Amino acid sequence: MSTSFLLRNGKRVFSVIGGVCRGTDALSGVHFIARRFIIDLSYSTHFMDFKGSSIPSSMKKLVVTKLSQNFRDAVALQTVPVPTPGDGDLLVRNRFVGINASDINYSAGRYDPTVKPPFDAGFEGIGEVVGLGLSASARYTVGDTVAYFADGAFAEYTVIPMIKTVPVPAVKPEFLTLLLSGATAYIAMKRLGDLVKGETVLVTAAAGGTGQFAVQFAKQAGCHVVGTCSSNEKAGFLKTIGCDRPINYTSEDLSATLRKEYPQGLDVVYESIGGRIFDMAVNNLANKGRLIVIGFISGYQTASGVPTVKGGTLPVKLLQKSASVRGFFLPHFLADYKEAMGSMMQMFAKGKLVCEVDCGDMAPEGRFVGLESVFRAVDYMYAGKNVGKVVVEVTPPSLDSKL
Ligand SMILES: NC(=O)c1ccc[n+]([C@@H]2O[C@H](COP(=O)([O-])OP(=O)(O)OC[C@H]3O[C@@H](n4cnc5c(N)ncnc54)[C@H](OP(=O)(O)O)[C@@H]3O)[C@@H](O)[C@H]2O)c1
Repeated sequence: MSTSFLLRNGKRVFSVIGGVCRGTDALSGVHFIARRFIIDLSYSTHFMDFKGSSIPSSMKKLVVTKLSQNFRDAVALQTVPVPTPGDGDLLVRNRFVGINASDINYSAGRYDPTVKPPFDAGFEGIGEVVGLGLSASARYTVGDTVAYFADGAFAEYTVIPMIKTVPVPAVKPEFLTLLLSGATAYIAMKRLGDLVKGETVLVTAAAGGTGQFAVQFAKQAGCHVVGTCSSNEKAGFLKTIGCDRPINYTSEDLSATLRKEYPQGLDVVYESIGGRIFDMAVNNLANKGRLIVIGFISGYQTASGVPTVKGGTLPVKLLQKSASVRGFFLPHFLADYKEAMGSMMQMFAKGKLVCEVDCGDMAPEGRFVGLESVFRAVDYMYAGKNVGKVVVEVTPPSLDSKL
């Protein structure tokens, strides 16, 4: 059975047969075939009311309106028109978005000091393609599920350049954990860790978004893994993902424990806290130890963003142990990104990688549902409550969604 639609400007006639869309472009005479409807740029002014579309005319998004390390002061919830995808873009209906420690570095303008507010917040999302430009239609179609690592994710709908997206088999929040948190651990350990079987690896913030992956990759490399965390619940979780020695630093003296149980020192440290913990990690490095600076979250909520360390003594300490401190920033390692994602997706599919998601089900005001709850989710992370990656459920599943 076939149905025909004449679009408003009359340029193109579609006929739909059994879910397959065929037609002839009236201007070029070119025959085309597509699996499902493509929202073509030539109709971009019309696509909101395209037959069968469930795209509303307006949506909510979070915008940085003032630079501040206080996320609630910096960011405002706005209602705006749903944006239109350009030629190489996808319009994604965000089902889940990821919360990152650096969301407040971004809102404080620390990523690019030349960028002035207003600008869109949020780094990563996963959802369904609901519109796309003509070039993007060569690779994607409406209904495809994608994840992406790009600015502006804290919105109900986001326009994303196709090249920044990764096709995913379903809209599972677990895939979202891999985009930034997983990729950081995978690439940093591989490129800068130089892990050798039998070595001792310390992971700080080990039960968090990226820490959980650092623990698992170090374990897979045959290392003895020590992980810091702030509760017994987190220590229990760390055990389940292979951490040999979780240290709950709220009930144990971290420095004394490291000195007593690891007198030979730490071969590798995956360090996310900074300040006092960074100093402690340097002091406990083994000969030829490698400390990877992943972040320094303990300073992010301060005006400078940078916690103080005992920098003056660092050259001496490194020289005496032939040790090194190595910085890692994911955008500098994008050449490794595709391989990292492919490998982690395979591990997850085979049940060899735990991707722990924390949607706030145990948070005081309950699960993080709706864009408004991004504020609560950021607070929750900064209170150190999360076990795994903090994720917000932005929109409910669509009717024919794969989740
Ligand atoms: N370099 C890169 O390219 C890159 C990419 C992604 C993430 N990162 C870095 O990785 C680190 C972790 O980020 P994430 O997004 O995965 O967060 P997360 O680990 O999911 O959450 C942050 C955790 O940090 C711990 N923490 C310790 N001291 C803290 C303090 N003073 N304030 C707040 N939290 C504290 C808490 O765990 P406990 O309470 O258990 O200690 C908290 O749960 C951050 O430093 C971030 O900047 C870097």
